[in-house]
Amino acid sequence: MKTEIGTDLLYAAALLRRGELVGMPTETVYGLAGNALDSDTVLKIYATKGRPHFNPLIVHLQDISKMSKYAEVPVFAQTLAERFWPGPLTLVLPKKKIIPDIVTGGGDTVALRVPAHSLAHELLSLIDFPLAAPSANPAGYISPVTAEHVCEQLGGKIAYILDGGTCSVGIESTVVTFVQDELVVLRAGGVTLEDLKSVAGSVKLHTQATGQLASPGLLKSHYAPKTRLILGDLANLIEEHQSRKLAVLALSHLPQNAAIVASEILSPAGDLTQAAHNLFAAMRRLDAVDAELILAERMPEHSFGVAINDRLERAAAL
Ligand code: TXA
Ligand code: MG
Repeated sequence: MKTEIGTDLLYAAALLRRGELVGMPTETVYGLAGNALDSDTVLKIYATKGRPHFNPLIVHLQDISKMSKYAEVPVFAQTLAERFWPGPLTLVLPKKKIIPDIVTGGGDTVALRVPAHSLAHELLSLIDFPLAAPSANPAGYISPVTAEHVCEQLGGKIAYILDGGTCSVGIESTVVTFVQDELVVLRAGGVTLEDLKSVAGSVKLHTQATGQLASPGLLKSHYAPKTRLILGDLANLIEEHQSRKLAVLALSHLPQNAAIVASEILSPAGDLTQAAHNLFAAMRRLDAVDAELILAERMPEHSFGVAINDRLERAAAL
């Protein structure tokens, strides 16, 4: 199959109506989108991504008014949706029957989100079904933040990638659920814990894949470059591994005299929002330089630093 990249919304909508998959830009990362109400299409998403069926998909809606069609909506969820949608927040809610079991990995909850990207919004307005869309990368690899990234990995497997430029947020949505009215974060992401706390009061982080609350997708190893990645204090890591061919991922500056083959600074000003925006493209570039090791700096544990560290830890997991 030949993969085209373009901005033809009508063509993309026509493909989706025919049960085909389309690469879709969102403000977080690109998604691999298909009709969420059609089981055969959803099976195609899992197959194209090489993703196990037990790891459920996020269902993307055009706007907040569609939420109650697909899930039970407690007051708390409504409040969060009104505050953060369209935007990088995914709500895990009790699903309604209309959502096929294959979308939710057989579970009785469904993940919903309204993306904040004009092309995604326009695409959703042209069709009368919601879009199931995992990040458009092969399972386990770094998520794509440009149409070209999608094409590098999924080219030949899908007909069309809608080109919406570089994703503004650059890191996936924050996934939350509710347990006895308590807000539980299953995946740190584009809405910070500080933002959530400002609305919900207290927030519990539960991002390890253990216990009954586990988000099935929180596999320990994920987002991983092919080159081995180690996370920690850069100066120490460089000293420890100085005999190796090193690539380095830093927040704002490199340690002096570092003998390295390639480096990426995520934000010269040390701005964590900018660092999140640049993270995945930087990881891809470092993965392409043929280094023996990628050494990554641990970010400060606040704001977007929490989500960046989460991705880097999973990228470092063996
Ligand atoms: O920003 C994003 O969320 C992007 C864009 C395309 O919207 N999508 C994305 O999808 O990151 P994916 O499939 O790569 O990650 C979805 C995460 C997985 O960790 C999955 O396990 C979790 O959401 N998830 C989905 N449905 C769930 C459910 N019913 N219960 C718990 N976790 C769920
Ligand atoms: Mg993903």
